[in-house]
Amino acid sequence: ETIETIASELAAADHAVALTGAGVSTASGIPDFRSEGGVWDTFDPAEFRYGRFQADPAAFWERRVEMHETVYGGDIEPNVAHEALAELEAAGVLDVVVTQNVDGLHGAAGSETVVELHGNADRVVCEECGRRADAGPVRDRVTSGETPPRCRECQGLLKPDVVLFGEQLPRASLQMARDHARRADVFLAAGSSLSVEPAASLPRTATQATLVVVNLEETPVSAAADYELLADVTDVLPAMADAVRVR
Ligand code: OAD
Ligand code: ZN
Repeated sequence: ETIETIASELAAADHAVALTGAGVSTASGIPDFRSEGGVWDTFDPAEFRYGRFQADPAAFWERRVEMHETVYGGDIEPNVAHEALAELEAAGVLDVVVTQNVDGLHGAAGSETVVELHGNADRVVCEECGRRADAGPVRDRVTSGETPPRCRECQGLLKPDVVLFGEQLPRASLQMARDHARRADVFLAAGSSLSVEPAASLPRTATQATLVVVNLEETPVSAAADYELLADVTDVLPAMADAVRVR
């Protein structure tokens, strides 16, 4: 069946790349962005634009903390989809996970080679000196009224270390992602609507690759896919890892 075919292509691949989106984390209790009940149903993306951060960092931070609590609040743990990708890497089959997610769950699941295209919400970065720090204590400072939070070293504005709308992706991460995609002979996109650039173009960069898309709904890339599984990543990815293991 399809999963076994994909598993044997994965096992035979010299360079296998996974690109993930919010759909791999929904089973961890984190809503995605564009589905019904998604983040953009509750929050206005305009509030998280870089221009908004610059214009009114205090208001931005207050809203950001609220959003963080709603979306990433509680005890967030990796689910079987993250675990399956970590397992595929440990088995020497998957070379890299490129993710649009900022939840850090691929790393938490044990994936070692992870490219975080949109940053990581567990960190903040100083706009002046570039120093990075844990986000938790900074969110607490905002909650207790110290807003906008400033760098302890240089008094520069702190920003969540995530890519806001209107901001460039980290150059090095995007470069790495593109290099991996170009070299890929299997490219697996999972749990993403593939609607946000430049991540959405990575599958097309993978010109040599067998293209596999696993998502609950169709994506703009579906027509070009060699295999499209309209299915839950928590079913498909563990099944793939199993199929690779029993080979
Ligand atoms: P989206 O919300 O756009 O897409 C998530 C996709 O995952 C949807 O197509 C869902 O149908 C699908 N999905 C949800 N749960 C699933 C499951 N259990 N199994 C399979 N599929 C599932 O999220 P992303 O594509 O990640 O950017 O969004 C990309 C970027 O848009 C985000 O990184 C974020 C957002 O604006 C920034 O914040 C910069
Ligand atoms: Zn600083």
